[in-house]
Amino acid sequence: RLKLGVLISGRGSNLQALIDACAEPGFPASVALVLSNRADAAGLERADAAGIATAVVSHRDHAGKQAFEEAMSTALEAAGVDLVCLAGFMRLLSPWFVERWRDRLINIHPSLLPAFPGLDTHRRALEAGVRFHGCTVHLVRQDMDAGPILVQAAVPVRPDDTEESLAARVLEQEHRCYPLAVRLLAERRARIVGERVLLDADATAPEPLL
Ligand code: GAR
Repeated sequence: RLKLGVLISGRGSNLQALIDACAEPGFPASVALVLSNRADAAGLERADAAGIATAVVSHRDHAGKQAFEEAMSTALEAAGVDLVCLAGFMRLLSPWFVERWRDRLINIHPSLLPAFPGLDTHRRALEAGVRFHGCTVHLVRQDMDAGPILVQAAVPVRPDDTEESLAARVLEQEHRCYPLAVRLLAERRARIVGERVLLDADATAPEPLL
């Protein structure tokens, strides 16, 4: 089974979705380590409750970004992590870290990339008047919120939506997409070829999202 390292900064609902998926019989991955850059991240309690190892690596305790990221990398390697999943991890990673984990580092982002990279995606989607919004799981590259796309899900934007109602509709899809992306990689039904992800023909069959 693929060993996951999940990086969080806060609530950890996507972490929970991954923990729940990994608990299902036959799921081809397990969470080996939950790593947070904040000691007060609520997601750490979710990991504790599931009996998963946690580590806090704070950027404040390290002299510079490189030292902080080396400490994270060392913890991930010590746990035998195969795939790093960013799940609401709110610090930008340097090219060093991104290259160190190239093609073994994925992120979930609350928009249909390449639309709305960055923060406040739901507010910006409402302001732009888009009719569809959603989420993306993608491989991390040096540019923020860019990189080969693994899985996306779209949701309609309703006329009476607020930032909160739209965020909740997208979040529900995030919780489906992240385990699906992990499964596709673990079962090698998604293959990374240069800057594209190729899905095996049967990858589209059982999953209506793709
Ligand atoms: C999620 O909506 C995730 O897509 C987003 O933060 C939230 C974390 O929630 N990520 C980003 O905005 C990354 N730039 P969670 O902690 O409950 O999973």
